[in-house]
Amino acid sequence: MRLGDPDVRTVLDFGCGPGKVAERVVTGYGKQVVAVDGSAPMLEIAKSTRANPRIDYRLVRDARLPFVADDALDVAMSCYVFINIGSVDVISSIVREVYRVLRPGGRYAILDTNPDTTGVEFTTFRSGDPGRRYERGEQRTVLLRQRSGEDMTLLDFHWPKALYRQVLTDAGFGSIEMHEPILTDPPDAADPSRARRWVNEQAQPPFLIVVGEK
Ligand SMILES: C[S@@+](CC[C@H](N)C(=O)[O-])C[C@H]1O[C@@H](n2cnc3c(N)ncnc32)[C@H](O)[C@@H]1O
Repeated sequence: MRLGDPDVRTVLDFGCGPGKVAERVVTGYGKQVVAVDGSAPMLEIAKSTRANPRIDYRLVRDARLPFVADDALDVAMSCYVFINIGSVDVISSIVREVYRVLRPGGRYAILDTNPDTTGVEFTTFRSGDPGRRYERGEQRTVLLRQRSGEDMTLLDFHWPKALYRQVLTDAGFGSIEMHEPILTDPPDAADPSRARRWVNEQAQPPFLIVVGEK
């Protein structure tokens, strides 16, 4: 999202959940954030634990942001949101609305678990069953490895990379980039105590970051 650029002042966090990422954008970069979510309980957690004068938390219904004018915001992000939505129509509505509120040249970054490493055991999670092939939009069982040692079991949806490219292109985004980092680069590789924890993350990308530009 080029948060270091001085002309990036305002950020939309679509699907902000408890506000962790929005708070990092504010404390790390001093930006103004509009943080929206479809879950009122999530927003309550965000407001009670991460209230900040630079974060405007809002409830969103049907992917509509009537309180944001066209071309108003500099950049946008959605972290772990699309894998929690089982409908292409709903995902497309979100992407179209993000496109409307971004200024020309504004970038939209989408972070999700990587569909190409479904079933791979990572240190902190596994999305889907090993060796199983998932269809577009199929539900997967996700195991989150908690610090307590117990797994938390969730369900999410498998979306291939082509889906991200399709919904961004259909909404009007261009210059689409896909990033698949692995954890051999600093800061993780530079910290031996952390580096020892990572195994498959060193060779296979746990996450996918898709960026489009208006
Ligand atoms: C796994 S959480 C991620 C929260 C946050 N982005 C983070 O990375 O910590 C996914 C969030 O997306 C929200 N969400 C899912 N579908 C949505 C929709 N159609 N409209 C708005 N928010 C939605 C959920 O309520 C939830 O808070």
